Amino acid sequence: MDKFSKAWKGHEEKIRRNWLAVVRESDTVVLAGDFSWGRDLEECGPDFDFIGKLPGRKILIRGNHDMFWDAKKTPALNALFEGRFFFLQDNYAAYEDYALVGTKGICFENLTSFEQFRKLQKRETERLRTSFEAARAAGYRKFIVFLHYPPTSSIWPATPELCEALGMSRREEAAIRRQEQEILRQHGGRDIGHNPVIDLHALPPALLHSVMDVTEVLSSPFTRMAEEYGAEQVIYAHSHGKSRFHDSIHGELRGVRYQLVSGDYLDFKPFRVIG
Ligand SMILES: [Fe+2]
Repeated sequence: MDKFSKAWKGHEEKIRRNWLAVVRESDTVVLAGDFSWGRDLEECGPDFDFIGKLPGRKILIRGNHDMFWDAKKTPALNALFEGRFFFLQDNYAAYEDYALVGTKGICFENLTSFEQFRKLQKRETERLRTSFEAARAAGYRKFIVFLHYPPTSSIWPATPELCEALGMSRREEAAIRRQEQEILRQHGGRDIGHNPVIDLHALPPALLHSVMDVTEVLSSPFTRMAEEYGAEQVIYAHSHGKSRFHDSIHGELRGVRYQLVSGDYLDFKPFRVIG
């Protein structure tokens, strides 16, 4: 991990030291994904041992790098690690009178086609609803949501709706689809990944407001579900490095509090969610 930036130098020791400074055996700790680089349980063994030896009850969310975690085999993982780790997906964990609900989530990162993003987003919102409903059926009315991905997307494909909201002419819209750099730049565009995209955070505030309805910069199926169930907080990770820390919502919005907890954002210190 040291290769990413100097913030990651000795990150395991930072995690251990900071964890031991504040976490007691009676505490509950949620790890918000990207737990291990290991490709299977055997390769993840040292990471399970490392976290397992630290105090507290540990709950895991599936990150995009967690190859060991086959989404369909969550019950088997929970059986295998019973008493050591709880894998949060299509289920919930109780903490006092709260239900901790969650799933991996998804944001548009320009890594896949927009159609593929929509497919993954649909599956992940269904999983989050399953989690909420399981908790609600058990009588819980207070919720904290944990996602791996940010709940909203800071870049968005140049859909016809977005091009129209940005006041682009048909010619400009066609040009942006051909990834003409100057046109892209003028409209806050980026040319990374597979699709020409608009960097929504590069837009002036007034323009950003006018494109909200046709993008998911401040509202997505995940934020709407958090609001629908009256969740108090949405905790998310995945955004690393200063240029990505503001990819999604920080602070309170429409009655829900949003908090980024990626390792380098918190300098590897545990974040106190409740209590
Ligand atoms: Fe990630």
